Amino acid sequence: MPAGKSPVTAFEILNIKRRGEKITALTAYDATFARLEDEAGIDIILVGDSLGMVVQGCSNTIPVTIDDVIYHCRACARGVERALLVADMPFMSYQASIEQALINAGRCLKEGGAQAVKLEGGEAMTETIRRLVDVGIPVMGHIGMQPQMVNIYGGYKLQGKETLQAEQILRNAEAVQDAGAFSIVLEKIPRGLAGEITKRLNIPTIGIAAGPDCDGQILVNYDLFGLADQYRFKFVRRYLEMARDIRDAVKKYGEDIRSGDFPSDAESFE
Ligand code: KIV
Repeated sequence: MPAGKSPVTAFEILNIKRRGEKITALTAYDATFARLEDEAGIDIILVGDSLGMVVQGCSNTIPVTIDDVIYHCRACARGVERALLVADMPFMSYQASIEQALINAGRCLKEGGAQAVKLEGGEAMTETIRRLVDVGIPVMGHIGMQPQMVNIYGGYKLQGKETLQAEQILRNAEAVQDAGAFSIVLEKIPRGLAGEITKRLNIPTIGIAAGPDCDGQILVNYDLFGLADQYRFKFVRRYLEMARDIRDAVKKYGEDIRSGDFPSDAESFE
């Protein structure tokens, strides 16, 4: 564990907001990146269903299964000592019934090594959230633009621009809080609306494409590292250009093999 740091709990995430500090969150899908992010002091590591796009190469998150999430979560759990590890419930792993949600969320904790789950939905999900919290599963909500609704939206469009839609998103935020969630992701909504929700809620808001006035921020790690460089999003800040660097490294490796430069004497055994 990074020196002097105790494990982050769902309760501690609430306390970070109470202290007026910002919450840092990032996705991971494997042990190596999870370990590096953990060592760098990130508060929350989310095993996002975005794995369907960045790891599996799907065009959206719909095909991701609960077994996929558990597999990647278990890998991340081996790399994480301090951060709160959150498993993202994929499409149709919790919507069919409360019983289905309980079984699958339970598997995320028991088999995946997660300490909490995230699920998309507002008022429609309150009973599910309440039951999960009742049995001891901390829940992170996710409202605004919900990627699992892509087939209803017809794309990943900004949500909450019109007054009626904004009012519904506000009601969703309050409903998720009242149901017992410890935090809530706000995705792709106007910054003013995200700020208003953040002011009204006692639980922390974690924004993605929702502006600076949330209690914390989350990004997909492949975006932040410049690994998924086929995408360029306005709301992403790239801190590395890994895709470019990997292409360059692999080109050089190929050149070195072809020229006979690799392996050298020093890289060989007698
Ligand atoms: O799946 C995911 O990575 C997410 C975050 C971007 C919030 O839901």
